[in-house]
Amino acid sequence: MSTDLSYLKAINYKFKKIPNKIENLQFKLKEKLFLSLGIPIKNINNLDILEFGPGSGFTAKILVQGNPKSYTFVEPYEESIKILKNLFKGNKFFFIKKDILNFNSKKKYDYIILEGVLPGIENPNLNLKHLIKYLKLGGVVIFTTTSPASFVSDALRRSLKPLFELAGHNKLNSRKKIKKILENQFKNLKGQSRNIDNWIDDTVFNPMKNIMYTFGESLKVLNKRFEYFASSPNFFFDHTWYKQRNLDNKQYNRKVLDLYQRCSLSFLNSQNDDYSCLNFKNRNQYVDIDIKSMCIYKSHLKFWFNPSRKNFNKLMNDVKSLSIIVKNKDKKTYLALEDFVKFSKRVVNNKLKNSTFGKFDFFFGRGLHHFSFIRVR
Ligand SMILES: C[S@@+](CC[C@H](N)C(=O)[O-])C[C@H]1O[C@@H](n2cnc3c(N)ncnc32)[C@H](O)[C@@H]1O
Repeated sequence: MSTDLSYLKAINYKFKKIPNKIENLQFKLKEKLFLSLGIPIKNINNLDILEFGPGSGFTAKILVQGNPKSYTFVEPYEESIKILKNLFKGNKFFFIKKDILNFNSKKKYDYIILEGVLPGIENPNLNLKHLIKYLKLGGVVIFTTTSPASFVSDALRRSLKPLFELAGHNKLNSRKKIKKILENQFKNLKGQSRNIDNWIDDTVFNPMKNIMYTFGESLKVLNKRFEYFASSPNFFFDHTWYKQRNLDNKQYNRKVLDLYQRCSLSFLNSQNDDYSCLNFKNRNQYVDIDIKSMCIYKSHLKFWFNPSRKNFNKLMNDVKSLSIIVKNKDKKTYLALEDFVKFSKRVVNNKLKNSTFGKFDFFFGRGLHHFSFIRVR
């Protein structure tokens, strides 16, 4: 969903109610997510937690099972604060209606959590720099990033809006057609719990301008005092024996970033589960995927805001370029991208017969990436 507060207010965004039962699959998955981030829920017993942008309180609902000493919510959106106050009662909970940059505290925390917050706000690094001041030495910050490759599938689905506009459809009609197309596609996505109408508002029709916040970008802030701890998806392995380990956190983080960039192919398409990408010998091979994905991100934005023929052609050319790069490495992705171009042309020429986009219907990126970092200095 969107982070942009003015957009949330403009559409009077209602957070999805979280399930009642903690045994629910969505909760179990979240618990697993925290395990991948190196945090078994039991280990937060008696610790101080600070969460920014908690939204519906979904994460907090799980973490409070571990019996933290205190749980502080910082959230600028009134609607969310109301929900949180209803869900969490007792003197260990604190609710602060502020945004990150206006938050100040003398207290320091063991865990700071912000999921789906940094990508989408203005100047994410300034926000990150501000909030990590409140972390204890040895404490952990958990946050999410986007990657150009992971975002390609969303960028292309967002392009359905300008595609139908260019074909001359009004908003209502476009929305109906897009909904049909997405219903057909989301059936192919395992673990998808989102309501399609919400997804259309949050993703397709949301005029998001700055959703790209990359892992590399976050290191510009974290390198000074933080060291990579864990992540989801998990992509990092370090086979150095501990006594030979270089203690410089910056060098360690650089190693993590290199492995991360090598995984672009699997970030691009979640159908791609193998680690063949790690066999890339030449750095250009994987960096090219990121660069081309970034071009798609930028050209989709131009097309979204100005659905002209020229911008349409630019986007199609960028998708074609990426498909050529991946052609010999990942057939499924290649075919999905080719089909996207083919079916988009049909939409623009009003020749789309049914709601399928061919192989593109199965093409989904890996979405947001979660990271945990330890404060080492
Ligand atoms: C995409 S939602 C994520 C909600 C929740 N963390 C989750 O993962 O489901 C973004 C949340 O960040 C909040 N938010 C937006 N701008 C913020 C800011 N500058 N500081 C703190 N929270 C912010 C929004 O109100 C919203 O609750």
